[in-house]
Amino acid sequence: MKPDFLKKTFAFAGATALAVLLAGCEVPPQESTQNGPAGTGMAQVKSPEREAAKLASVQIPEPQPEADAGGQKASEVYQNVKVLGHLSEGQFIRVMAAVTEWIYPEQGCAGCHNLENLAEDSVYTKVVARRMFQMTQTINSKWTAHVGGTGVTCYTCHRGAPVPANIWFKSPEPDNPPYMGVRNGQNAPVRTVAYSTLPNEPFSALLMQKGQIRVQGPTAIPPRGDRMESGVPIQDAEATYGLMIHMSEGLGVNCTFCHNSRAFGSWAESPPQRVSAWHGIQMVRDLNTTYLDPLQPVYPPNRLGEAGDAPKAYCSTCHAGVNKPLHGAAMFKDYKIELSPPKAN
Ligand code: HEC
Ligand code: HEC
Ligand code: HEC
Ligand code: HEC
Repeated sequence: MKPDFLKKTFAFAGATALAVLLAGCEVPPQESTQNGPAGTGMAQVKSPEREAAKLASVQIPEPQPEADAGGQKASEVYQNVKVLGHLSEGQFIRVMAAVTEWIYPEQGCAGCHNLENLAEDSVYTKVVARRMFQMTQTINSKWTAHVGGTGVTCYTCHRGAPVPANIWFKSPEPDNPPYMGVRNGQNAPVRTVAYSTLPNEPFSALLMQKGQIRVQGPTAIPPRGDRMESGVPIQDAEATYGLMIHMSEGLGVNCTFCHNSRAFGSWAESPPQRVSAWHGIQMVRDLNTTYLDPLQPVYPPNRLGEAGDAPKAYCSTCHAGVNKPLHGAAMFKDYKIELSPPKAN
């Protein structure tokens, strides 16, 4: 063979190998924004290309035309209204049109109604939706420490679909192979914990029950005595780490968005976003225990998880990979009356 031909073959093979190697990399430049004191390495690194794609993927529906606030109340006009009776007839129909666009753009009113009789509760989705109205009212009134004035609408989670893209279920009873001892949900990598070997479902303990997230001891070496007496078990630290990975992924940020990594536990050194996140954790626990999990008997079996439980929310249900859901778009301001609780009279 001619050496020239060999050279070309090698060059081609080399170029192909390089292309394969670099295929997983993101195209520079990356943008880095500092969000902590200089020298602390507190910065968020983002790819402008990916951010632009995320922004383009969110299409906010136009608000429905203003409704007449006068006239009769929905409770006087209709037969079976238990949550929205305080609205005027016009506001009531306006919010029906909005939820149809936000959740059932294809099915229309039939997504929740038997069209022969709108007052009937025979379609399970209507029963779920009534509870969802109450949940959304609660988020917008009780949890302003988290959602601020921006608030949420059904669209924040649903985005044109009956089932939000990001939901979680309890993991079924852990299968503990005899040779591995207690597996604790580990070594079964799933997306929620970024395919790490962390326990794959820290959410039942930390985003439903009021489990202990704080795990750091006050001293470098635990005091003498039983490890379990002096501190928290390593399994708790693993669950905390699993949750933190979800929070970072769910918001599309680094750990340093909320922490100075030289002292994860220190509130004094943390950016204010960590306080928002703390309120977010309390809110999600409330949504899951008060509204979402108890809907279990209402759903058909195909909507339930492997453990037979109802679908639940976590950070990415609203955030979808962005630090402010829908990139901060404020839809609630156009539905303040319809999606706030009735004023206490
Ligand atoms: C996402 C679910 C959902 C969709 C879609 C929906 N509705 Fe409703 N609808 C409800 C719920 C929930 C109630 C009961 C509200 C309450 O109890 O306060 C209701 C009640 C009603 C009532 C009152 C019936 C009565 O006499 O009690 C009317 C009228 C109505 N809807 C019209 C519509 C129309 C028209 C559409 C389509 C443009 C629509 N709805 C789409 C959930 C929905
Ligand atoms: C915090 C996020 C969140 C918000 C806000 C929210 N939902 Fe939901 N919704 C969920 C989750 C989670 C489910 C469970 C998904 C499933 O049914 O599998 C759900 C389910 C539903 C379903 C049942 C769909 C099905 O096919 O099983 C309806 C109907 C619904 N929501 C209506 C509403 C309405 C109406 C609003 C606003 C008033 C609303 N939701 C606001 C999270 C949310
Ligand atoms: C969106 C904000 C946010 C992000 C991102 C975040 N955390 Fe946290 N982290 C918190 C909050 C809030 C707490 C405290 C929860 C509590 O006190 O109940 C916490 C607690 C912790 C703790 C326990 C501290 C103690 O007192 O024992 C550790 C460790 C931790 N985070 C590590 C991480 C790591 C590692 C990452 C990145 C993978 C991360 N966090 C990402 C908000 C965040
Ligand atoms: C029901 C929807 C919803 C859920 C669920 C939710 N958030 Fe949020 N979050 C919001 C909204 C809306 C804002 C924007 C508030 C504003 O504009 O002031 C926000 C803002 C934040 C911010 C401030 C971001 C910034 O740039 O300043 C942090 C941090 C945050 N959320 C963390 C979390 C964490 C962590 C979780 C899960 C434990 C969570 N959120 C769950 C709706 C939600």
